[in-house]
Amino acid sequence: MVKRFLLTGIFVFLLSSAVWADTTVRYRAKSENQGSSVYFDCFSVEDTYYFSVRDIALLLNNTEHSFSLSTDSDGAVLIEKKQSYSETGTEFNSSIGKKKRKYDTSVFNVKCGDVLYSLNSYYINNRNYVKLRDICNIIDINTQWNSENKTIELWYYNDEGEKITAAEIAVLPAVIVDKSKPMVALTFDDGPSANTKRILDTLEKYNGVATFFVTGNNASKYTDILKRITDEESQIGNHTYDHLRLTKLSSEGIRSQVNRIQEIVYSATGVYPTVLRPPYGEYNSFVKSNVSIKMLNWNVDTLDWKTRNAESTYNEVMNTLADGNVILMHDLYSQTADAVEKIVPTIVEKGYQLVTVDQLFYAKDNVKGRIK
Ligand code: NI
Repeated sequence: MVKRFLLTGIFVFLLSSAVWADTTVRYRAKSENQGSSVYFDCFSVEDTYYFSVRDIALLLNNTEHSFSLSTDSDGAVLIEKKQSYSETGTEFNSSIGKKKRKYDTSVFNVKCGDVLYSLNSYYINNRNYVKLRDICNIIDINTQWNSENKTIELWYYNDEGEKITAAEIAVLPAVIVDKSKPMVALTFDDGPSANTKRILDTLEKYNGVATFFVTGNNASKYTDILKRITDEESQIGNHTYDHLRLTKLSSEGIRSQVNRIQEIVYSATGVYPTVLRPPYGEYNSFVKSNVSIKMLNWNVDTLDWKTRNAESTYNEVMNTLADGNVILMHDLYSQTADAVEKIVPTIVEKGYQLVTVDQLFYAKDNVKGRIK
């Protein structure tokens, strides 16, 4: 099921900044690490691959070429060879290489031994992306692009002169939403829950994606599901921490309700939500002015929470089916997961693409249910 890791992402980035070159494409990269597959983002800018420094460190951890990352007093990132990388204590992204605009290029200073390197980098989603080749040069490892199977091999010669592969990265081709074909965004609120897995299984089976608007307790409890959602290219939206009516809260209250979810999702997945759905769909201009990301409700309400009946949920979706629909469901209920098992294959059969909210914003000028 390789294809499905590629659906999202690129669209948001392409819309965002003139500085961000036209030839920039977001890809998913896959590598095997101690028996399990690891997925992460990479970007191709004018045919050069950019990776997050942290992802490269993780990839080479437990190999001959492992390296640690820390910050020195001048604010440069220190690379120490032959040390193991630990994700904690290396929060250098917030201050180094950061520019006001999200996709600006910036200089990323790296120190290794006595040498200071100023690398060209992109700052995206609060992470620094640098040329894979630049980092590999610093840690004395070679890169080789294999165009036939779209892999990047990281290799070196050992003391005996034998060529050793330290890691192999598969770059998965990007799949783009076809604007000429109909699409719907399935959205699931209030979870995750134990039933979310079955919904993800169904989406995976039919190469579809969806958006999950999560709340605080559930998001904290099911961080593994959050990770799976983004790994499989579905999207996580913000549904606030306590599911309170935002129209009753102060500015500080609204911001705290939103920001707590932003941080939970970021620490579980490395990605900040880009869209908020206010609890109960309630908002006013004060709420809007205190939310910095886009806001979206829905145009089809299945009332799945009320009926708890798979047939009724299915019928509501099918009776209203139209291009660009934003469909509200809740991944708390087993009956909703049952309905999804029927909805997804039927919709796909009818020629609809299942897209995330961000993909919908990319593809449509007027998104149904859009608040801001
Ligand atoms: Ni809700």
